[in-house]
Amino acid sequence: MNILLTGGAGFIGSHTARALLRRGDAVTIIDEFNDYYAPRVKRHNIEQTRAVGPCTVHEGDIRDLAFLRTVLQGAPFDAVCHLAARAGVRPSIAQPFLYEQVNVLGTLHLLQLAVEHKIPQFVYASSSSVYGNLPTAPFREDMQLDQPISPYAATKKACELLAHTYHHLYGMRCIGLRFFTVYGPAGRPDMAPFIFTRNMLEGRPIQQFGDGSSLRDYTYIDDIVAGILAALDCACACEIFNLGNCRPIRLDAFIQHIADAVGVTPIIERQPMQPGDVQMTCADTAKAQALLGFKAAVPFELGIRQFVAWYRAHADLYR
Ligand SMILES: NC(=O)c1ccc[n+]([C@@H]2O[C@H](COP(=O)([O-])OP(=O)(O)OC[C@H]3O[C@@H](n4cnc5c(N)ncnc54)[C@H](O)[C@@H]3O)[C@@H](O)[C@H]2O)c1
Repeated sequence: MNILLTGGAGFIGSHTARALLRRGDAVTIIDEFNDYYAPRVKRHNIEQTRAVGPCTVHEGDIRDLAFLRTVLQGAPFDAVCHLAARAGVRPSIAQPFLYEQVNVLGTLHLLQLAVEHKIPQFVYASSSSVYGNLPTAPFREDMQLDQPISPYAATKKACELLAHTYHHLYGMRCIGLRFFTVYGPAGRPDMAPFIFTRNMLEGRPIQQFGDGSSLRDYTYIDDIVAGILAALDCACACEIFNLGNCRPIRLDAFIQHIADAVGVTPIIERQPMQPGDVQMTCADTAKAQALLGFKAAVPFELGIRQFVAWYRAHADLYR
């Protein structure tokens, strides 16, 4: 298949690009290499991808429709895998307009161009954050969701609505993937697995938001990539799938797992829960298992050891 992959220099995107190349797909990446975290990390990701196989990289902004048109001109893509986004929950509160522009307008641009270029398959990243502070777990895709608690979550929900609209109007297959807190090698430096690992290795304190009882369904990157590839191959018309581990971990246990993997006693600074943070995420993946054959295989204890080993070998990239 010939895949247009947005956000292909990022964490999930670069792992996805390599998996696609390994199975023989052609990959064209769009990424703006922004400084949400160090662009050199994203360029390193691209180098790692190019070590697997050749891929085309277009540096530019998905808000720029003229730029997108030049990329799509004359290239017969079989599928769009749209992962580019502003991805942090807390920063979306400080920069709501940016999040709306990149995540909603950017997605609308890609949906519209996919229609114009008759690209039959549109797979896009949504997020567990769309579940907000639902008291009932595990979260199922058919739950009524209209109470997001961050601008980021609201933009992801808006993308799901747009994808449904485009499927309804034009019949293209639109598959949304609600990722549940993804971690692993080259993981995002703004996320807890990364920050906690780095701080513990450097002997610095970590900030624990809340009393330690909040729960997160951490999902290893290889499992997420398997789900993305299955979605690209899926013939279903318009669906949304949870991609999660189905095994939420309490924050205090999460901290202890990382401390065990690093081999230290953590120095913990307790802080109040942050605005926009949800108390719990927990995926029900029965639908993804039935229709995509998705089942998370990597337990957190193993995945976090692999992440810590990776970070030890790559810490220089982040200095
Ligand atoms: N990592 C997670 O735990 C997680 C959880 C739920 C959803 N997601 C979603 O998965 C997708 C990938 O997330 P990630 O963790 O790999 O993040 P990431 O920040 O590592 O990757 C996103 C990539 O998109 C690019 N990008 C951002 N704005 C762009 C723009 N305007 N034009 C072109 N490129 C742009 C960035 O440069 C970056 O390389 C995102 O849509 C995110 O919202 C991630």
